[in-house]
Amino acid sequence: MKLTLKESEISQSIKQTSSIEELEIIRIKYLGKQGLVTNELRILSSLSNEEKKNRGKELNKIKNFIEQEIFEKRNYLNKKKIDEKIQNEKIDVTLPPRDYLTGKIHPISQSVDKIINIFSQMGFNVADGPDIETDFNNFTALNIPENHPAREMQDTFYIHTDEKDPKVLRTHTSPVQVRTMMSTKPPIRIIVPGRTYRSDSDSTHSPMFTQCEGLFVDNKTTMSELKGCLIDFLKEFFEIKDLKYRFRPSYFPFTEPSAEMDIAYKKVNNVIKIGDGEDWLEILGCGMVNPKVLENCNIDSKVYRGWAFGMGVERLSMLKYGIKDIRSFFETDFRWIENYGFNPFDLNSKSGI
Ligand code: PHE
Repeated sequence: MKLTLKESEISQSIKQTSSIEELEIIRIKYLGKQGLVTNELRILSSLSNEEKKNRGKELNKIKNFIEQEIFEKRNYLNKKKIDEKIQNEKIDVTLPPRDYLTGKIHPISQSVDKIINIFSQMGFNVADGPDIETDFNNFTALNIPENHPAREMQDTFYIHTDEKDPKVLRTHTSPVQVRTMMSTKPPIRIIVPGRTYRSDSDSTHSPMFTQCEGLFVDNKTTMSELKGCLIDFLKEFFEIKDLKYRFRPSYFPFTEPSAEMDIAYKKVNNVIKIGDGEDWLEILGCGMVNPKVLENCNIDSKVYRGWAFGMGVERLSMLKYGIKDIRSFFETDFRWIENYGFNPFDLNSKSGI
């Protein structure tokens, strides 16, 4: 019995498939080894020549038709599958960013920014140098010769090398004075915020801490200029207009005369309140640059004079922000930074100078 294969019906069933698997079932149904078209083609040989010709033509036409329909549908289904995959894996880059408050500015960075801010308004430039220094820059050029007791004052971390000039972790930012004087001509007006190292650790000392050095070299410079500069700076830094302070004579091998500056404080309910009171807190060291240091740095001490100062940024920050233990700055405790850190969008330039 001759099977009637209607193109429209086959086409309809191909159209209704919704997956490659369903499509394959249809292909097998018609074109598989035991498929309807395949079987019809197989029995062609039993037909008369005339019938064979007509039926053969008819079947080939249907076979080509089915193959074409399946080919198109398969392409369509494959493309659809890829499109769906792309759609599902799409990343929405317009998602809002994470809350900016999850990161905060460390109080030391905040203080350094503020110090730079104030001194740059007074005409100082920022200079820097390496943390690993030569013994010469850290001590010798600063008038601290070998075996000088002042080397004991600063518990130095030595780095053992075979080199002639031994290396140290700089014990202060003063070696950058040396570097700057060696490489530039006066007038020099720099501040040097940076990390320094001493073998010491308790609630007010940390083996790594931050200093800010200042250096002014010119033909005429005076101690009263130095004092005025530091007074203005501290008033501005602490935002206290009538800050009570004093200068005490002191000793540093690299300055002559030398002084230390104290600010007054009092304890209110066991909390330190700075700016006024009967007690004193040492805040920085300073003095006129020792002519020997100028000469060590190839600056003619008969023509030029200079003054310098150095302060501990942790000490300043502890007083300004009410932080009790210096070690907490470096513990990287997330709760601590949440409490004492600053929002990146808070401005640091309330300066009235
Ligand atoms: N370098 C000194 C210190 O670390 C501070 C200082 C700097 C004093 C410059 C005077 C002049 O203690």
